[in-house]
This record gives sequence, C-alpha cells and structure tokens, in this order.
Amino acid sequence: MEAFTFYNPTKLIFGKDQIEQLPQQMPAGTKNVLIVYGGGSIKKNGVYDQVMEQLNKAGVQVHELSGVEPNPKLTTVHKGVEICKNEDIDFLLAVGGGSVIDCTKTIATGAKYDGDAWDLVTRQATPNDAIPFGTVLTLAATGSEMNAGSVITNWETNEKYGWGAPPYTNPKFSILDPAYTTSVPRNQTIYGIVDMMTHLFEQYFHTPTQSPIQDEMIEGVLRTIIDTAPKLLDDLESYEHRETILYAGTIALNGMLQMGYRGDWASHNIEHAVSAVYDIPHAGGLAILFPNWMKHNLNVKPERFVQLATKVFGVDPEGKSDQQVAEEGIEALRSFWSSIGAPETLRDYDISDEKFDVIVDRAMKRGPFGNFNKLESDDVEKILELSK
Ligand code: NZQ
Ligand code: ZN
Repeated sequence: MEAFTFYNPTKLIFGKDQIEQLPQQMPAGTKNVLIVYGGGSIKKNGVYDQVMEQLNKAGVQVHELSGVEPNPKLTTVHKGVEICKNEDIDFLLAVGGGSVIDCTKTIATGAKYDGDAWDLVTRQATPNDAIPFGTVLTLAATGSEMNAGSVITNWETNEKYGWGAPPYTNPKFSILDPAYTTSVPRNQTIYGIVDMMTHLFEQYFHTPTQSPIQDEMIEGVLRTIIDTAPKLLDDLESYEHRETILYAGTIALNGMLQMGYRGDWASHNIEHAVSAVYDIPHAGGLAILFPNWMKHNLNVKPERFVQLATKVFGVDPEGKSDQQVAEEGIEALRSFWSSIGAPETLRDYDISDEKFDVIVDRAMKRGPFGNFNKLESDDVEKILELSK
C-alpha cells in the first residue's frame, strides 16, 4: 500500500422516510435555501413535495434552480451562481442524481469565487470557500453524494472535466431513501449499475501490491451487484434490491475502497472526452470503453486480470494459461453487461471514427493519464478503434 490519509466529512443518512431528518441537518440559522434539481422526475415521483414539506417545517425561504441536464452544463452552473449572489443563498440542497449534485458542487464553490466557475473546473484556480450544501439522492450511480468530485461540461469548447476540492465540494450530509429510486427507469438503472461497477474496476486496477482487504471488499461488492442487478431489472420497484444497489453505488466511490492506492481512472477520462463531443450517457460510454481498456492493458499485469476473472466471474483456471483466464474474465464482463442491456459499441450511439481526433485531443488535455498504465494518444486511439 501507499501511505494515505482518509477523511470523509459527509454524514450519510440512509433508509426509508429519512427525509424527515432534513430540517435538523441544515446549519443552524439557515435563511435562504436554493434547491437544485433536474428535468422534473422529482415532481412526478413525489420527492419534490416531500422535500418542500420539510423545508417549510424548517421555516426557510426557498429558491429554485430546475432543469439541470444529465451531463450538467457550465451555463447552468452560471445560472445557479447568479441566484446565489442575488438572493443571498446560505445553503444549497441538491435533489436528484449525480448531475444535479455535481452541478450544485460547482455552484457552491463558484458562488464564493470572483472569477468564472470554469476556472475551478479546469483547475486554473482553487476555491477557498463554499456555500454549504446537502443532497437528497434519487439515482444510484455516481457516488457523488459522498465524494468531492464534480463533472461539468462546457459546450462552447466541447470539454468535460472532473474536478473537486475537498472539503468544499463534499456534501455536509446526504439523504438516501431507496424508495426514492424505485421510479428510476430501466435504462438509467442499467447505466447506474455499469457506472458503479466501473468505479470498482477503476480502483481494482492499481499498481501497489499488498491490498488484500481492499481486493476482497471490491470483489465482494462486485459479486453482490452482479447477483442483484438481474433481480432488480426483473422487478424495478423492489425496495430490497434498490436498497442494495443504492448502498453499493455509494460505497463504490466514497473513498472507502481506494485507501492505499490511486486506482486507474483512464477509462473515465476517455469517456468524459467522448461525452464532451457527443453528449451520451456517461455509463453508456463506459460499458463500451472499459472492456476494451481491459483488452488493451491485459499484458501490463495479467495476474490482476486473472484474479478478477476467477474471484468475481467464477472463471475456472484449470488447464488454462493466464492469458486465457484473463480473456475469459473480460468476455464474462462483456456478456454480463450485454445481458442486462448495456451498449456494446460506439455504433450503438451512431458514433463513427469521424471525430476520434477531437476525442483523443480532449482526453489528452491534461497529458498522459492512467495510474495502472499511462496512456498516450496512440493508446487512446487504439481503445477507440476497438470500441467502434
Ligand atoms: O433530470 P431528471 O428529470 O431528474 O431525470 C433524471 C435524468 O434524466 C433521471 N432520474 C434521476 N432520478 C430519478 C430519475 N428518473 C426517475 N426517477 C428518479 N428517482 O435520470 C436521468 C439521469 O440523471 P443523472 O443525474 O444525469 O445520472 P447520474 O447519476 O448517472 O449522473 C451522471 C453524471 O455524473 C457524472 C457523469 O459524468 C455525468 O455527468 N459523474 C460524476 C461522478 C462524481 N461526481 O463522482 C463520477 C462519475 O464517474 C461520473 O463521471
Ligand atoms: Zn463513473
């Protein structure tokens, strides 16, 4: 392991009807709350009414920013920053999935920064203050509810970057009621499952050896997701399966499973570049790219792929070479994702190789990347070619 310091300041409030805790979780003396949400799912499933009931109980003045898009845009961040400045907002409440939460994080810091919030996203400036914020999560996927990351897209320049500045971009609290996720449609449920699995893989593919506890935990969470996902997709309203998947999504990316190493994260970087150019769902891109990242990097450290194949996908190594076992593991992942309905190739989104050069350029913006294996532009191009 490498030396590490673990600190996660988000209070996690998990379970049925836990929205009732909202008033007492806001900082004492809160006056003006900005509630941030997406395209209206929270109005259809009743979550909005429940949140408003609690905010009314708390006696705060409520302002609203709606219409945060999946893959949240910089222009929406600007709108939020303006409301915060004009209305003297002293607390933000994100109610939605990762996009709403990510947008809220950049608004919270952008409102306390004199320049353009894009400077923070591109890391040209570092925040030193933020409006405190909490979240009410409605979709199991990103882990944004309990980490410091925020991913924002600038459509003027076709750039999508992840950034974060703990503790300013860590939620003060996150309320997770599995019942709020039973209305998530089938396709978003699939995307969420692929995203959280990929977060686990990204962390599993690290270079430091000696991580037996982390390995066992990641393998266990992966096996549980693989077991639960088909059951949930057969019964989208199952509270029990929603609960398991919701908890899995949070645990997969709240730092608990990344102690002692950094994880790879190259596939996320490539996917962000793809969706900066084509605006496809984040996990749709990952489902296509990640198995090809695996194929491309198989020879870097085959034993890691063998461990995954045998311990997570139950590949029998008897009489087979490491190469064969590793390849069977990759195939098992590909077919699992296909079996639940995830996309397989860029063609599924009508993406050809026409703009591969732009995608490579965006992916390389911050230089060679990936901690399991450093990727140069020709590696990215090869992974995209495999993904056509
Ligand atoms: O906008 P509304 O109407 O709310 O509908 C949303 C949206 O259309 C819908 N939805 C959410 N909860 C629902 C629901 N529909 C019915 N019932 C509910 N309970 O789902 C759609 C997708 O929502 P979105 O928030 O975009 O999904 P997700 O949570 O997957 O977030 C994706 C974004 O997060 C970033 C991605 O790049 C992408 O921009 N990521 C953020 C990370 C982080 N902060 O740590 C890490 C991830 O790797 C990822 O990059
Ligand atoms: Zn992700």
